[in-house]
Amino acid sequence: MQFGYFDAERREYVITRPDTPAPWANYLGSPKYGAIITANAGGYSFVESGAAGRLLRYHFNQDDTPGRYIYLRDDEDGDFWSASWLPVAKSLEEARYTCRHGTGYTAISAQYRGIASEATYYVPLEGSHEVWLLRLRNTGSTPRTLSILGAAELTNDGHYEQDSVNLQYTQFITRTFYEDGLLLQTINENCRQAVNGNTQDMRFFTLCGGPVISYSGDRESFLGAYHGYEAPTGVRDGKLTGQMNYGGNTCAALHTRLQLPPGGEAQLVFLLGEKSREQATTLRRQYEKYPERPARELAALQAHWHGLLNNFQVNTPSAPLNHMMNTWNAYQCFITFIWSRAASLTYCGLRNGYGYRDTVQDIQGIIHLAPDMAREKLLFMLSAQVHHGGALPLVKFTHDPGHENSPEDPEYAKQTGHPSYRADDALWLFPTVYKYIAETGEHSFLDEVVSYADKGEDTVYKHMKKAIDFSMQHLGIYGLPAGLHADWNDCLRLGEQGASVFVALQLYYTFDIMERFALQRSDSGIADEMKRQREALGSLIETHCWNGDRYIRGISETGEMVGHRDSPEASLWMNPQSWAVISGHADEARARKIMDTIHEGLNTPWGMRLMSPPYKEHPFEGAQALLFNPGLKENGGIFLQPQGWLLLAEALLGHGNRAFDYYLESCPAAQNDSADTRRLEPYAYGQFAEGSQSPFAGRSNVHWLTGTASTVMVGCVEGILGLRPTLEGLHICPSTPAEWQGFTMRKNWRGKWLSITVQNPQGKESGCTCMRLNGQVVADGLLRWDLLAVENEVSITM
Ligand code: GLC
Repeated sequence: MQFGYFDAERREYVITRPDTPAPWANYLGSPKYGAIITANAGGYSFVESGAAGRLLRYHFNQDDTPGRYIYLRDDEDGDFWSASWLPVAKSLEEARYTCRHGTGYTAISAQYRGIASEATYYVPLEGSHEVWLLRLRNTGSTPRTLSILGAAELTNDGHYEQDSVNLQYTQFITRTFYEDGLLLQTINENCRQAVNGNTQDMRFFTLCGGPVISYSGDRESFLGAYHGYEAPTGVRDGKLTGQMNYGGNTCAALHTRLQLPPGGEAQLVFLLGEKSREQATTLRRQYEKYPERPARELAALQAHWHGLLNNFQVNTPSAPLNHMMNTWNAYQCFITFIWSRAASLTYCGLRNGYGYRDTVQDIQGIIHLAPDMAREKLLFMLSAQVHHGGALPLVKFTHDPGHENSPEDPEYAKQTGHPSYRADDALWLFPTVYKYIAETGEHSFLDEVVSYADKGEDTVYKHMKKAIDFSMQHLGIYGLPAGLHADWNDCLRLGEQGASVFVALQLYYTFDIMERFALQRSDSGIADEMKRQREALGSLIETHCWNGDRYIRGISETGEMVGHRDSPEASLWMNPQSWAVISGHADEARARKIMDTIHEGLNTPWGMRLMSPPYKEHPFEGAQALLFNPGLKENGGIFLQPQGWLLLAEALLGHGNRAFDYYLESCPAAQNDSADTRRLEPYAYGQFAEGSQSPFAGRSNVHWLTGTASTVMVGCVEGILGLRPTLEGLHICPSTPAEWQGFTMRKNWRGKWLSITVQNPQGKESGCTCMRLNGQVVADGLLRWDLLAVENEVSITM
């Protein structure tokens, strides 16, 4: 079943049926002023922190209410509806709703009884308030008198938990006022103080473009006793009571009235935010004075986002791939990069920091689109390494390099809830730093001096070396890297005595990257050492982790092999196989074999399971996955982030057909027609899909904020499309379905433009037999930046 379609030209997803299987959301603004909005105008807003700076209430996990509601009322007969399908929920036979989620804005249009409306919601670029722009047109043949009412339910306390549960307190610390077009809310114990120290801030809601003729600051008086948002008495009566909140619940509702002759049009603007009274008044005046301001702001938003996305565009025979690469996967990469795991309709904002691995992985998704943004975040993450090379599992949003305590200190665990180091965290720096330098050519990045989280500073190069030292100082059984509190898999506690094969393969790959850095710098001492260590680790892996037709997943603290082929449960795991290929540990014949093993043993129509069979009765001590129902999350679910590594591994092997089959299995856009099964937005990845052991096989969960965005992006760009930047230049080696006859790409590479045409006359699955740059054959197939003009034609024959 379909609920909408992709509009590639406008870079929008258009929802044509508002009764979507789950609330389908979009992101507005930034964590400075953030807003999440669904196709039915549900969602919430916050200032700086989803948990501590919450402005709007939202019922998580329920009925997608409340929201940013605009009611329309025919004042002749009292009939009313809403600019979004919810909350009034007019029958879809009489009312038509369309929602366009775009890059940084959402526009919901409605047609009902001769009135066409469009409510566009956005946060201006760099802005810290939100705008609800309403455009109206009388498409009928009679003059109409309409009441328009905007309403939002504000929290009584910015701490959303306090607001929801501590009613004996939070109801009595806030009140609302009406002053000259502004509905204002003050909170006595202003918890925002903790976040930005500004006690002057008030919440405000205002309306520009018409006179306020009635208002309400009190939820109960707006809704009426025992009424919900579907039929507030204030809307039913076409008049608000003027009552303010004093000891109850806050709502900001404003009412205006207008006349629309046939064909007549009108525009209204509602503004919402948290600022001083003076700033709010100034904003109101500006929007009142310049009615064209919203159009300008929307154009600036589009130019910003589309400008970033234009740095890499493709035109392939696959429409789903094009939608994802050109807009949606790229946009999601930015959203995860900017918002981390802070706030969504699943995450309520409580995680007040950056997960180390998550963020270092997220950076990979945008390096090719916005290297400057990547650079800044990368330096920030390097400054969250402890002086011995280990990484802080959670980096606070208030991170203060040089002054942080570390997991060795009980205070750190108390503040963050993270008791100890993960084995993998700092190792993610290697592919990320490598990709950054390869993309930008900024070799001197390794010489930047960066503080450690706790004390001291070093060059990036030394930070990297220390990350390796940390792993080498945490070896477990047989001298393999210990699994510590977790490796990539949060549910595998392999401890200090056990071993993680994932991390072993990661470290094997790390030695290779560090050797390449060292060679570039003519640091032969380190280069030799890396080579030696890589070989030594390689043979340990061979001796202790190879299991005939698969790599095992780890060794527990008690010496149990996890992922052994004879185990009754969890006998086959995806990640050690794909990483054996990515890291180069598996030679070609073995790589083929292990990838076949997981194809047979783990693949499903919706992607590949993380492992099988799920834990039920035979978990080892550290198998936290047992907590999850079989087929969900880490317990044999189709974890989506590793699908990116899977297709990358197949692509590196030159298996274009299989890489692309894997891509389509979990590609949101490819499941647009089965959106009822998949449930999540067809334009955004989730964290996992349910495996065949769930009664809801194929259903996806935990939308938007997931590492899936970046790994799939890298898998597509480097793997399938074959753009592989190295320290020397750019290799282009596509791995595509044999039936693709060709495709084109346009890429901004270090400020120069590449228009790349790939041709596949012989129906191959991979490879590059000839590369031409501006007509000239490039003998070694390596594009060097100094050979480029400003505009370049690159042609590749597979
Ligand atoms: C979640 C976590 C991520 C972890 C993954 C696997 O996505 O955010 O850090 O790697 O689960 O456990």
